[in-house]
Amino acid sequence: MNLLVVGGGGREHAIIKKLRENPQVETIYALPGNGGIAADAVCVPEIGAKDIGKIVDFAKAHDVDFAVVAPDDPLALGCVDRLHEAGIPCFGPDAKAARIEASKVFSKNLMRKYGIPTARYQVFDDPRKALAYLETASFPIVVKADGLALGKGVLIPQSLAEAEAAVKSIMEDKAFGDSGNEIVIEEFLTGPEVSVLAFTDGTAIVPMISSMDHKRAGDGDTGPNTGGMGTVAPNPCYTPDIARTCMESIFLPTLAAMRAEGCPFKGCLYFGLMITPDGPKVIEYNCRFGDPETQVVLPLLKTDLLRVMQAVENETLAELKVEWREGSAACVILASGGYPGNYAKGKTITIPGGLPENVTVYHAGDKLAENGNLVTSGGRVLGVTATAGTLREALDGAYAAAEQIQFEGRYMRCDIGRRALAAGEG
Ligand code: AMP
Ligand code: GLY
Repeated sequence: MNLLVVGGGGREHAIIKKLRENPQVETIYALPGNGGIAADAVCVPEIGAKDIGKIVDFAKAHDVDFAVVAPDDPLALGCVDRLHEAGIPCFGPDAKAARIEASKVFSKNLMRKYGIPTARYQVFDDPRKALAYLETASFPIVVKADGLALGKGVLIPQSLAEAEAAVKSIMEDKAFGDSGNEIVIEEFLTGPEVSVLAFTDGTAIVPMISSMDHKRAGDGDTGPNTGGMGTVAPNPCYTPDIARTCMESIFLPTLAAMRAEGCPFKGCLYFGLMITPDGPKVIEYNCRFGDPETQVVLPLLKTDLLRVMQAVENETLAELKVEWREGSAACVILASGGYPGNYAKGKTITIPGGLPENVTVYHAGDKLAENGNLVTSGGRVLGVTATAGTLREALDGAYAAAEQIQFEGRYMRCDIGRRALAAGEG
């Protein structure tokens, strides 16, 4: 079988490595892929993840039997719709279902209409009305741009002045372009955060092992928000009791709501949850695998990933037993110094041979230079994942390997998993 994976980050590398475990898989094409993915797939750097027409033409010309569309942009742009029109089976939601991530107004209104627990909110398309509303609000408060904003469209102002600046920057200065034509202003919730990725064919749902992201750039959750500096799985805050509550009050109602709205969701649905004193609530939905959550969740998957993805596409997920490995996984991101601000590129990466078998290096932001060397090309460069019997062992393994990998300006957080360890012990 020939497979095609749209995307070129650490998440896509983790998906590709897992798909490779199926002996029927011959060629995997990665569009665009990256320098490290080139060891596991045929990369096509000329075709970007948003070049929908070229992706479909490529799939038709290369006898692609199954495609996986991983990033949010192509999903929101209808990549899966176009591939289906061309007769190519694929994994991922269509554009109508991808609105659950691509429009916060859509997802918040969905939750309100179907009684799914989330922060109380108001929607504004007029900055003057938003500013008037803020006069009566209490702080901190949460201001979100409606559309996709590379994970940066959420601001948490601590005061009226900061909130006014947030509204002006999103709605008037268009800091996130048209994504800020509408905004959601919502109540600030507190509690530990849990990421739950789930396979769903629209009716059946199989939650994956829970995970915990570390979004801030600096140790102790300080500094600016990033795409994610590290992850651990499972998340000790996600107890079996909470999992049951989430299934009943969030997961199944969300699937039913999407069906009732005429846009059943098929693919990987990501529930960003906060375990508040009033119970679990939805902070956000994503219409795709998380990055770097995928780098700790998929290594724990025992069942063949391609079979799961085909069951989602064929709507036979209920018939498949999806199994997980015991133990934990931890992923430490090696970033370019300066990320998420400006950073240098083109630095040579040295990865020693003979890393332990329980360690996998997922490549996120690198490319092959003309001399064949791997060089940095992005902010998040590598994700170093280790699996082990316990979280502490997994973290030790990931950090020991990360220490051995070098490139100029290399930066990592030193406290990935610290909160999870404390929660697990407490
Ligand atoms: P999002 O892009 O919606 O995941 O938001 C990014 C981050 O902002 C989340 O992971 C939370 O840490 C935080 N956040 C979003 N909404 C809220 C909220 N209502 N209350 C508190 N924190 C929030
Ligand atoms: N790690 C958060 C996300 O993928 O959106």
